[in-house]
Amino acid sequence: MKKGLTLMITLLLLLPMVSVWAGGQQEGTATAEETETVAVPEVKLDYGKPSGDLEIFSWWAGDEAPALNALIDLYNDNYPQVEVINATVTGGSGVNAKAVLKTRMLGGDPPDSFQVHAGQELIGTWVAAERMLDLTPLFESEGWMDVIPEDLINLIGTENGIWSVPVNVHRSNVMWYIPENLEEWGVEAPQSWDEFLEIAEDLEAQGVTPLSLATNWTVNHLWESVALGVLGADKYDGLWNGELSWTSDEAVEVWATLDEVLEYTNDDFSSLSWQQATDLVVGGDAAFNIMGDWAAGYMSTTLNLEPGSDYSWAASPGTDGVFMFLADSFGFPKGVKNPAATLAWLKTCGSKKGQDTFNPLKGSISARTDSDLSKYNDYSQSAAEDFADNRIVGSLAHGVTANEGFMNDFATVMEMFLNNRNPEQAANAAQAIAIQNGIVSR
Ligand code: GAL
Repeated sequence: MKKGLTLMITLLLLLPMVSVWAGGQQEGTATAEETETVAVPEVKLDYGKPSGDLEIFSWWAGDEAPALNALIDLYNDNYPQVEVINATVTGGSGVNAKAVLKTRMLGGDPPDSFQVHAGQELIGTWVAAERMLDLTPLFESEGWMDVIPEDLINLIGTENGIWSVPVNVHRSNVMWYIPENLEEWGVEAPQSWDEFLEIAEDLEAQGVTPLSLATNWTVNHLWESVALGVLGADKYDGLWNGELSWTSDEAVEVWATLDEVLEYTNDDFSSLSWQQATDLVVGGDAAFNIMGDWAAGYMSTTLNLEPGSDYSWAASPGTDGVFMFLADSFGFPKGVKNPAATLAWLKTCGSKKGQDTFNPLKGSISARTDSDLSKYNDYSQSAAEDFADNRIVGSLAHGVTANEGFMNDFATVMEMFLNNRNPEQAANAAQAIAIQNGIVSR
């Protein structure tokens, strides 16, 4: 109890430090009145003929690179006179890239365009800090208002503008497995966390790790799938719209379930990349992995596996019929070195051809409703169907539901939880950071 209290106090003391954003402003704290009065610079539709260097910043390095490389090749087919500098900072989910980007943006050295998640990651940070150009004229001139779903435009927009171009839609709540292995072990993909816990015993008895896990951001990723499975879509949304208290019994239950699930994961998780956690499943050491569908990109594009036969998937336990989504996007920072080449880059990102070149390799689906599904594999076609039919909720771990301040603080809460595995304490700490970061008002 004493140890717990000390941890809690340390956590609360840390919060103001981790939440400070641009120039002392806290993320997500820009009020409607503040943003309404700001005169926002808009993108121009003609900066002249693109040439020179174009720096594209992302975390799509190594195994994550093929889709971006294909998009850059397409760009270079159309704009051969531009030299693309593909600036990547390795680290799944942008754990390292976001810190480098922050230093560059605050130091007045923005890349020409950078990867950012649609949602609060963009709006609560670079839009709130007034570092982005409004892209509304580009959306209108390219006809994107008609082909990008309104809900997605709302996530990349505020009443003052539209702030990035989405290149994809990824699904977060997916459980991956190898059908042949499950058959051998006599289990099926579990439909609920209770069912998972039952078969986990059986798998362990056979010397198989029930669920593979990787470095710490993937625990946040697991958390959101557990939360959705335990709470259901309405209550999961309730965490973000203030209708469900972070200290409610249900919210405590999420942490308690995570605690049980963690008992059935690999001990060395914190030293593995997300690809290595996928490898554990592919190699037959683990039965399941919960990861976004970039894992399908990795298995199909990098490992050359066939979806549906070599590997398969199900909605994470208890989340069938719900699509937890996120989208990667590229924005136009103020003060870039090469606006003409940046404008051409964004046009490529938003184009039908660009999206249908990038996404079949990435494991994601197009952010456009007119995409040519014949270019996509069975996994992506099923994701496209689910995206059209399912209830949609936003991902926490990938920037949709909460600002960067909350995300950073949530990582601290998770670290505390991994140390003491105390669900009540984690729930209280989560409530504290939700208030601190303006997620809930009480
Ligand atoms: C997500 C991103 C995906 C993929 C993944 C793993 O945050 O949206 O495109 O890169 O991280 O790094």
